[in-house]
Amino acid sequence: MIRGIADELVLIDAVQERAVGEVMDLNHGLSFVRPMKIVSGSYSDLAGCGVVVIAAGASQKPGETRLALLARNAAIFREIVTQVVRHNPGGIILVATNPVDILTHISLKETGYDPARIIGSGTILDTSRFRFLLGQYYGVDARSVHAYIVGEHGDSEIPLWSLATIGGVRLQEFAPLAHKAYDRAAMENLFHAVRDAAYEIIKRKGATYYAIGLGLVSIIEAILGGHRSVLSVSTLMSGQYDIDDVCLSLPCVVGARGIEEVLTLNISPEEARGLQQSADTLKSTYASLIQQKEP
Ligand SMILES: NC(=O)c1ccc[n+]([C@@H]2O[C@H](COP(=O)([O-])OP(=O)(O)OC[C@H]3O[C@@H](n4cnc5c(N)ncnc54)[C@H](O)[C@@H]3O)[C@@H](O)[C@H]2O)c1
Repeated sequence: MIRGIADELVLIDAVQERAVGEVMDLNHGLSFVRPMKIVSGSYSDLAGCGVVVIAAGASQKPGETRLALLARNAAIFREIVTQVVRHNPGGIILVATNPVDILTHISLKETGYDPARIIGSGTILDTSRFRFLLGQYYGVDARSVHAYIVGEHGDSEIPLWSLATIGGVRLQEFAPLAHKAYDRAAMENLFHAVRDAAYEIIKRKGATYYAIGLGLVSIIEAILGGHRSVLSVSTLMSGQYDIDDVCLSLPCVVGARGIEEVLTLNISPEEARGLQQSADTLKSTYASLIQQKEP
C-alpha cells in the first residue's frame, strides 16, 4: 500500500472480522498514498491476483509439540492452497507462515505447480537482519552491504562469509577502512544475533511484523515489476550443492515468472557442508511430518 505496487489488495482470514478490521484500518490511510482498492473477501475474490501471500497459521497450544503444531499448520495449508489454486490457477504463491521451508514444500506437493511459482519468504528477513547488523558494525548504509544468509529460515541457517562485501570490497579489506581490525569472533556473534533475532523480538513484543512485511513487499515488487532482483528466498532444490528434493533458501533471481534462476555461487567447502546439514535438518522434519498421522 505505501509503495503503491498494487491496484488492489484482498485480505482473507478464517476470522472474517479480523480481516474486516484490518481493511478498515488500512483504508483510513488511503488519503496519504497512491489510490488503490483494499477489501476483505473470500477465496473467489482471488481470481486474477498476480501474487497470493499466505501468512495464515495456528499458534502453539499449551503443551503442544512443535511437530504437532507443524502437522496442524500443514493441514491448514493443504486446505488453503487447494482453494487458492481453484480460484486463481495462474498466479504466484508466496508463503510466509513458519516453518516456511516445510510449508513451501507442502504447497508445492499439494498443487503440483512449477517450483518457480511457489516462493517461500525463506531467509529474506535473515539476510536483511544480517545486512543491517553488518552495516551498523562497519558504520555504513545497510544497502551498501551485500551478504546472504542461506539454508533453513531457522536454527540451521548459515551466513555466506565468503561472499560478503561492502561496496564490492571483502569485509577483511573493508575493516581497516572502518578503522577496525577484522574480528572473526565479533562476526560470529553478529551472526548469532541474526539467527536468534526472532526469539529476542517475540520475547519482547509477541511477534515480528515490520521487517518481514517489507521483505515480502520486496519479493512482490520484483514479481509484479518483473525486476529480476537477486533475493534470498526458499525454493525447491534440484541438485544445487548436491541437494535435492527439499525447499531452502539460496540467492535467486526473482521476476515476472517467479523464481527465474537459482544461483549456485562459488561458496567455501565449509559453507557448502553447512548448507547440506541445513538441508538434512529440513529433510528429517519433512519426513517426520509425512510419517506422523495428521489430526
Ligand atoms: N517467514 C518469516 O520470516 C516470518 C516472519 C514473521 C512471522 N512469520 C509467520 O507468519 C505466521 C503468521 O504470524 P502472525 O504474527 O501474523 O500470526 P497471527 O496469529 O497474528 O495471524 C495468523 C492469522 O491466520 C489466520 N488463520 C488461521 N487459520 C486460517 C485458515 N485456515 N484460513 C485463513 N486464515 C487462517 C488467523 O485467524 C490469524 O488471523 C506465523 O506462522 C509466523 O511464524 C513468518
